[in-house]
Amino acid sequence: MKKIAFGLSTVALSLAAATAQAGEVEVLHWWTSGGEAAAINVLKQEMTDAGHTWKDFAVAGGGGESAMTVLKSRAIAGNPPASAQIKGPTIQEWGDLGFLTNLDDVAKQGDWDSVLPSVVSSAMKYDGHYVAAPVNVHRVNWMWANPEVFKKAGASIPTTWDQFITEAKKIKAAGYTPLAHGGQAWQDATLFEAIALAKGSKFYNSAFLSLSDDTLRSQDMIDVFTTFKAMREFVDPGFSGRDWNIATSMVINGEAAMQIMGDWAKGEFTAAGKKAGIDYVCYPAPGTSGQFTFNIDSLAMFQVDGDDAQAAQQDLARLILEPKFQETFNLNKGSIPARLNMPRDKFDTCAHASMDAFLASSTTGDLLPSYAHGMAVNSMVQGAINDVVTNFFNSESITAEEAVDKLARAVKAADM
Ligand code: BGC
Repeated sequence: MKKIAFGLSTVALSLAAATAQAGEVEVLHWWTSGGEAAAINVLKQEMTDAGHTWKDFAVAGGGGESAMTVLKSRAIAGNPPASAQIKGPTIQEWGDLGFLTNLDDVAKQGDWDSVLPSVVSSAMKYDGHYVAAPVNVHRVNWMWANPEVFKKAGASIPTTWDQFITEAKKIKAAGYTPLAHGGQAWQDATLFEAIALAKGSKFYNSAFLSLSDDTLRSQDMIDVFTTFKAMREFVDPGFSGRDWNIATSMVINGEAAMQIMGDWAKGEFTAAGKKAGIDYVCYPAPGTSGQFTFNIDSLAMFQVDGDDAQAAQQDLARLILEPKFQETFNLNKGSIPARLNMPRDKFDTCAHASMDAFLASSTTGDLLPSYAHGMAVNSMVQGAINDVVTNFFNSESITAEEAVDKLARAVKAADM
């Protein structure tokens, strides 16, 4: 494997010199919904205030699949952006290809090793060196609900998937869509992952981290597929292809009762002026209250030419870890800061619950990387799982037994 190149002149620059030098950074990301745009604008503003030029390279599409395709073609053309929103094992893939740049100096000056939890800092390193800066920690296993709809339907918030089915029937009978969902592979994966998580952290680890053939073919996995398919009854006829933020707006405007989605959904409630605990409520996805599937967004830095461009890039990394940025960005994004020991007072009850669950789950073995959001497996395996999951959700004929067989085989082929 090719090793990453670290011969950058910026590494030798002092921070003072780096901040004094203005340059352009092109940043590829997929933050285009209301909440997401409000969040990324915070960074744009801070870079502009520091005298740099922000070149926005937004590629719409939740989950980032389109953004990753565009990033690959830019890299193949020999012209990657200075920075791109990539995360988890994908950072390692880009590192292996030798595209990323070293951020160790900035990290040392900002003491990243001590201000970041190890689960975050280790994901930002390639071959022991910092190559990416974390903006947040998202919790994926959330359920967002409209309390008014529940009230009108005489339904209660479900805490197990069996109960979800019972309550969803009541909601449907009352004329509302029980589950706001968008039929896109990554959203199907988000729902499927939440259902699998409820089978326990050991099961989740074995299936999505160890990729155990036995677990992938187990009765528990058959049950997961069966429950997942049961959700088809609770989505509206227009679900296919819908964007996740449009699904969130169905919960916001009282058309739908619930959405199973990571806490970027909270960014949409916030952007719509809605208050947690009043206009909407957040609960862990059924059966997953002590668990935390994490999804850490980060901006990885690509090698760029020119002292100014390199200085701007190092400055971007520095700003990302500043407490002020971590606070403002995450208030808009719905996530929690990646930095430890941040003041909590400006954050709402959902964020507090997430902060508490993050810390508690890290001591119990229930802090787990989200496979659906590229934190657990490489992009090949993730794609293989997603294909099986989505095809199953949209098929009238594939049985849950057949689905687990397809899953085990697809994973084996992709993991070779
Ligand atoms: C990203 C989030 C983003 C969401 C929807 C996730 O994979 O981590 O930052 O808001 O996709 O686009």
